[in-house]
Amino acid sequence: MDYKLEVAKLIAKAANLDEREILQAIEIPPESAMGDFAFPCFRLAKAMKQAPPAIAENIRGQIELPEFLDRVVVTGAYLNFFVDRAQYAKNAIGEIASKAGRFGSADIGKGGCVVIDYSAPNVAKPFHIGHLRSTVIGHALYNIFNFLGYRSFSINYLGDWGTQFGKIITAYEHWGNDEEIKAGGISALLKLYVKFHDEAEKDPAFDEEARSWFVKMEQGDKYALKLWKWFFDVSMEEYQKIYSRLDITFDSYDGESFYNDKMMPVVEEMKEKNILVKDDGAMIVDLEEYKMPPCLILRRDGGTLYPTRDIASVMYRKKEYDFVKALYVTGNEQNLHFAQWFKVVELMGYEWAKDQLVHIPFGLINFAQGKLSTRKGNVILMEKFLDDAVSKIREVIEQKNPGLANKEQVAEQVGIGAVIFNDLYNNRIKDIEFSWERMLNFEGETGPYVQYTHARCNSVINKADVNYSDADVSILTGDDEFELIKTLNAFPDKIIDAANKYEPFVVSRHIMHVAQMYNKFYHNNNILRANEDVKKARLLLTKCTKDVIAAGLGLLGIKAPEEM
Ligand code: ARG
Repeated sequence: MDYKLEVAKLIAKAANLDEREILQAIEIPPESAMGDFAFPCFRLAKAMKQAPPAIAENIRGQIELPEFLDRVVVTGAYLNFFVDRAQYAKNAIGEIASKAGRFGSADIGKGGCVVIDYSAPNVAKPFHIGHLRSTVIGHALYNIFNFLGYRSFSINYLGDWGTQFGKIITAYEHWGNDEEIKAGGISALLKLYVKFHDEAEKDPAFDEEARSWFVKMEQGDKYALKLWKWFFDVSMEEYQKIYSRLDITFDSYDGESFYNDKMMPVVEEMKEKNILVKDDGAMIVDLEEYKMPPCLILRRDGGTLYPTRDIASVMYRKKEYDFVKALYVTGNEQNLHFAQWFKVVELMGYEWAKDQLVHIPFGLINFAQGKLSTRKGNVILMEKFLDDAVSKIREVIEQKNPGLANKEQVAEQVGIGAVIFNDLYNNRIKDIEFSWERMLNFEGETGPYVQYTHARCNSVINKADVNYSDADVSILTGDDEFELIKTLNAFPDKIIDAANKYEPFVVSRHIMHVAQMYNKFYHNNNILRANEDVKKARLLLTKCTKDVIAAGLGLLGIKAPEEM
């Protein structure tokens, strides 16, 4: 039952007004003590030629109190509606309990395919923290769209082709050593990469050499490609370790190299459609009319570019997956790149580019140590970063609950959960000021706090000595109970809101709110020591809370430990 809509209908009937307009004007007061829904009458004053409080009184006089409402109160210019808590509890808890962990799932997407391009580290370079953001945001969106009945399809568009390979091959030829790479993996490659930049700064001949190695790769030179494949495998092995710790797999790993032979037909198509122009030997699409710099399609030497590849790949994806949306999750420094090539696709005559291609940008994570640069070797390696988070959590567990079973597994789940939650707790475009303290605090607005609440619910349930599945929840009318039930009941709307805005933080904020409401309820009320009927009802409420928190964490890609 949609309470807000029912209230709107009631007002519409009583005042002879348009239902949809009223629906938009209805507010949710910040505290239940002020009412559950409020309708301000200011805007009616002009048309009705009356003072707003008088209008409110008049409307109230016309309202016939339905069963789902307890009372309607006029306060100043506001009509405040108080729902019947007993009935509300019965409806909401009944629904949540019957759906179990699927409460909030929907069929809105009707199976439409949402392609999500995320993570996409650049091979032979380490997986760094910027790719972490893309990975966790993309993964959360993947889960959210699936939950709403879309068919999510994840693509890890690996940066597996490009001049960086020329550089590494050059460095390998001069200073490389097989044993070191076999032992050191990607950090050995990073060392070569840094060495290359040091040397090339002194002697530009190395740059020339790197370019020619890349040309060899493009021409299919066997030796160059053998090295490329080797460096690719070494890198993938490292990435897989991280993905498996984050419990992420991709539906496709078609990286940049997959499109090597798919670009020229698209360039031909652009030529046929007359949108390519020559510019100083290069081929570009002029975007002046759209207040953007030109989009580079072919270099002077005929080489393709980042946009060329993205355009070729979206053509392929449209044909192959027939998406209703294609999302691209990258840092906001790529805003222009996406705006440009989306426009080019539109100019090629593909109307879907306008509303189906969506760039999902995000801000930086700022570390105290200043700007990170792969070239200088100044990077935070993901593996190490996750290890640090986990070991700090391990210390806390050691202090708080040394007897915990599966300590190692829980530390991993909570440490990684903290990292993900921290990343998904704000509007994604905002930069994040990094702090271990803020991220790992069990009492703050953190992943561990939410996970801890989940474990608390579980521990309450495990101590139950009654069967509570048939509890009469209509007795849950206390303020704390009612606030909690309202918050749980809002979960489905929040998921939809998160999807509409492409903002996982709507979900993380909401489960934080659920956790806070539960803890307030838990501290102010007896559960296991209450009388039988109340105990059963509160246990069922606890079970529903646990399910909603677990579902929310699941959408964010975070584990919900049963104990911690
Ligand atoms: N590999 C790129 C980078 O690290 C991100 C790729 C994003 N996806 C895309 N289709 N352009 O910056």
